Amino acid sequence: MSTSSLYLEKLFGLNGKVAVIIGGAGELGGALAAGIGQAGAHLIIADMSESACQSRLEKLNTLGVSAEYLIVDITNRESIKSLLAGALKKTGQVNMLVNCAGINVGTPFLEVDPATWDKIFAVNLKGMMESCQVFIESMLKNENGGSILNIGSVNSDRPLSLVFAYAASKAGVVSLTQNIAQEFACKKIRCNAICPGFFPAEQNRKILSEERVANIMKGTPMKRYGSPDELVGAALLLLSQNAGSYMTGAAVYVDGGFTCSWF
Ligand SMILES: NC(=O)c1ccc[n+]([C@@H]2O[C@H](COP(=O)([O-])OP(=O)(O)OC[C@H]3O[C@@H](n4cnc5c(N)ncnc54)[C@H](O)[C@@H]3O)[C@@H](O)[C@H]2O)c1
Repeated sequence: MSTSSLYLEKLFGLNGKVAVIIGGAGELGGALAAGIGQAGAHLIIADMSESACQSRLEKLNTLGVSAEYLIVDITNRESIKSLLAGALKKTGQVNMLVNCAGINVGTPFLEVDPATWDKIFAVNLKGMMESCQVFIESMLKNENGGSILNIGSVNSDRPLSLVFAYAASKAGVVSLTQNIAQEFACKKIRCNAICPGFFPAEQNRKILSEERVANIMKGTPMKRYGSPDELVGAALLLLSQNAGSYMTGAAVYVDGGFTCSWF
């Protein structure tokens, strides 16, 4: 190996580590899985849909990534506990948790249905909180602790139109991340967030009207959508024990400049 390869491997390499990626069958979760797996980690793809997990695994296999899957419903604590138990049985230790499950519904404020609000919060925030609780208890037993990566949104920082419950839940993701970070900073558990801009995917395609797309492009200085693999660099930085060793409680915006736009 060349000096530069060794150096990068030491900084960002994840060989010998195990990552559980909740929502890993989805579009952004799948791209993160591909990156984390190619950096050397063994992956447990955790998602609700068995068929989506199977097709994600097939794609990961073509990359030569070491991966398997387990089914989880993040709104059910027993299901999260079973996921942890299953992951420990398969691998002995979980070093990284990526919380990438998320749902979204777009409606004008006066039409926001409280039941839909609860459903969105149950996945995007309460489920994330419970998976952090369940996995941190296990990571505290690891000699080298662990690293958690929560997926927020540009909505964590500012409002968009129509997505009220989603926006409030994603603002909560950054707060949750910061609170976990400060509580466990001296216990070898780091917790950070990535806040993506706009990456067309299953959960948001249905609300990408012509008017909305025009506004997104107006507000995005790079004038284009993100490609899911553009999240990987930030993820490896935040997850890696060496490159990200002094980072906790960070919310890294990967958004083509959306959160620094003056529009
Ligand atoms: N796509 C974007 O532009 C964008 C922007 C900002 C933030 N995000 C966030 O990124 C994350 C991934 O979104 P995506 O765009 O890849 O969407 P996606 O729909 O492709 O992926 C979401 C995944 O979460 C899973 N999921 C949903 N409910 C679940 C539950 N109860 N238990 C377990 N898994 C569940 C789904 O099965 C799906 O595989 C979400 O948190 C989303 O809010 C996406």
